[in-house]
Amino acid sequence: EVVDVEPMAYELGQHPHWMHKEIHEQPAAVERALTGRIDDRFATAHLGGLGLSPRETREIRRVVILGCGSAYLAGRLGAQLVEEVARIPAVAEPAAEFRYRNPVIEPDTLYVAVSQSGETYDTLAAVQEVQRKGGRVVGVVGKVGSAIARECGSGIYLHAGPEVSVTSTKTYTATAVAFALLALHLGRVRDLSPADGRRLIAGLRALPGQITEILASEERIRDVAARWASYPGMLYVGRVRGAVVASEGALKLKEVAYLHAEAYPASELKHGPLALISPDRPVVAVIPDDELRDKNLGTVAEVKARDGQVLAVGHDLELKASADEVLVVPRNERELDPILLGIPLQLLAYHAAVTLGHDVDRPRNLAKSVTVE
Ligand code: G6P
Repeated sequence: EVVDVEPMAYELGQHPHWMHKEIHEQPAAVERALTGRIDDRFATAHLGGLGLSPRETREIRRVVILGCGSAYLAGRLGAQLVEEVARIPAVAEPAAEFRYRNPVIEPDTLYVAVSQSGETYDTLAAVQEVQRKGGRVVGVVGKVGSAIARECGSGIYLHAGPEVSVTSTKTYTATAVAFALLALHLGRVRDLSPADGRRLIAGLRALPGQITEILASEERIRDVAARWASYPGMLYVGRVRGAVVASEGALKLKEVAYLHAEAYPASELKHGPLALISPDRPVVAVIPDDELRDKNLGTVAEVKARDGQVLAVGHDLELKASADEVLVVPRNERELDPILLGIPLQLLAYHAAVTLGHDVDRPRNLAKSVTVE
């Protein structure tokens, strides 16, 4: 596929940290991820590097997505998009777990390896395991010409540009957008209607402007982060479209703020984690505007009834009637809303880390890419 857009010089500019710069680069990164890939005539996505004929595309019965860390979590969002939009059963699994459990490799499964650096050892080894057993694997990769990109030989480049901060922000979002394009492409070869294709394309095109809007509310998020950073930990909850958003939000908080954060499906709260609820362990509730909204509000009420504090991340200020704090993001299409709901949680983790005086770009014990086992 075409060459990645690498700026000549990548500089911090007026940003205090790379993570801050990279969070703020997301509108442009999404714009680049979409450039040249929308086919309005057929209401689909054009992914030249994928290397699958329409017939091969139709024969895909399952999609299995592999990656580590935030790449794995972006893959989980990707699996959700593929299943919801293209109606192909899809799952994501941590690459190392996959490769050590002697996985069944099937000829009509499309394997997708996700990696920003393209050098993560476990992801590369998972690719080789799939190929050794005759499976078909494509990459969703940041770095052009990297080991994973070369090994896969076909796939989708992110075009997100470099990412310096150890914690993935714009790469995570660009990966989710790449999966939205893949889902659209797979869907339109199968049963997704042109009208739904056009609806998703309009949604994708609206993302950069909407992310810019969210970033404009940074002061408000900083204010919550500064107050909540003093708690020993937080619980992140969400259902279905909100579940991955909760997991990625919790991962960010652990990575940069060193606060214990556990993500849980909101539906499972009453089967254990509800015992953890107390005034000093606040809950971040991801509440998309979908058919599960009322159930999510029920969860908020359960937490409040046990003297827990709730920060709701959703699409409207009406959530104020239930939660202690509300972060509002614009509405897009229901399939794409999880991409937007993740952005305030990046800023929450960032500002919590800054408040606590941590080295946000180089968190202790972590590396940008893990090239050993
Ligand atoms: C490390 C980084 C994470 C990243 C993961 C996968 O753990 O700290 O931010 O998500 O590796 O990296 P990759 O380059 O394969 O996306």
